[in-house]
Amino acid sequence: MNILVTGGAGFIGSNFIYYELKNHPADNIICLDKLTYAGNLQTLDRAMKKDHFKFIRADIADRRAVYRIFETEKPDIVVNFAAESHVDRSIENPEIFLQTNVIGTSVLLDACRKYSIDRYHQVSTDEVYGDLPLDRPDLFFTEETPLHTSSPYSASKASADLLVMAYHRTYKLPTTISRCSNNYGPYHFPEKLIPLMIINALADKKLPVYGTGENVRDWLYVEDHCAAIDLIIRKGRPGEVYNIGGHNERRNIDVVKTILAALGKPESLIEHVADRKGHDRRYAIDPTKIHDALGWLPETKFEDGIQRTIQWYLDNRAWWEAIISGDYQNYYEKMYGNRPRLMEYSTL
Ligand code: NAD
Ligand code: TYD
Repeated sequence: MNILVTGGAGFIGSNFIYYELKNHPADNIICLDKLTYAGNLQTLDRAMKKDHFKFIRADIADRRAVYRIFETEKPDIVVNFAAESHVDRSIENPEIFLQTNVIGTSVLLDACRKYSIDRYHQVSTDEVYGDLPLDRPDLFFTEETPLHTSSPYSASKASADLLVMAYHRTYKLPTTISRCSNNYGPYHFPEKLIPLMIINALADKKLPVYGTGENVRDWLYVEDHCAAIDLIIRKGRPGEVYNIGGHNERRNIDVVKTILAALGKPESLIEHVADRKGHDRRYAIDPTKIHDALGWLPETKFEDGIQRTIQWYLDNRAWWEAIISGDYQNYYEKMYGNRPRLMEYSTL
């Protein structure tokens, strides 16, 4: 089977590629990624050595490039991770979020119709449901919770979800959508809460906590998310939406204190800074549907996953130091310019 993974040079997409190469070694994986600031080809170094893996640099919003890739690679399954993913950046500059997350998704959906695929899977987020109040721990997002977005990021993701559902209803495209809570684990880009706090703490720099730090996120170890997506693309029903989360709710301030304690650093490094505009208070997923329908359950408890993640950042300094110095952005040209299994498709 040929699986086209878009956004596979990013955090979750790369973890998904490694999950597939390990668990389904007979399948061919084609990674399509634009290599924006969030895409890092060094992350895919180990995959590059495998015969069943191919990397193509392209923009999902570039229709001609995408059609050409579908023609030559003949994907059976498309899993779309490609997105602008950082809420703070969406508040500063919403436009690229619409371009990639909405237009890019529509181009992929059109390509799937034109070249007929077995499955299109949209990797979405629990942020499309908006937020929950802090004083109602009994409330959770289900698949029936209305879409009610807060940030330009979540609005763009919700728009993409609506398009996916429309293509299923109108054109009978075999689509599925997953809406997952916050992920953490290896290869997480250092602008997000957990890697930022680990890296700042290691350098004895201040840890900027937005507002009071009482906002709650429902953390899922990235490999558990990958296992859920793998189940959905192989066993999930077309037209369905599946929520993914593991009941690991934590206040931001507690996550930060856990990291400081694990690294033996003082809590005096915490600095409360101005709150994020429109800051969502609490996310919490009800994963009953994916458990009942597909038998999925998360395997990693937050206490274990956070220690494993901290250890990964300690063991892989070169990976994040290259990001902080900006070197990773020259890596594609420097290391892979002439490699035969790397291609660049652009009609722009
Ligand atoms: P990321 O920012 O780490 O990676 C995004 C990847 O997409 C990068 O490799 C980037 O180069 C690529 N990309 C961006 N624009 C592109 C374009 N126009 N064409 C091709 N490639 C492009 O993001 P992530 O955290 O790995 O998130 C992956 C997906 O999962 C996103 O769709 C996000 O909305 C969703 N999601 C993320 C989380 C989370 O906690 N990180 C939780 C739930 C859902
Ligand atoms: P983030 O990792 O950006 O994910 P998301 O906004 O998609 O949930 O942020 C997680 C939480 O951490 C969120 O409530 C905002 C907060 N946060 C901080 O307090 N300080 C920071 O420097 C960052 C990046 C996030």
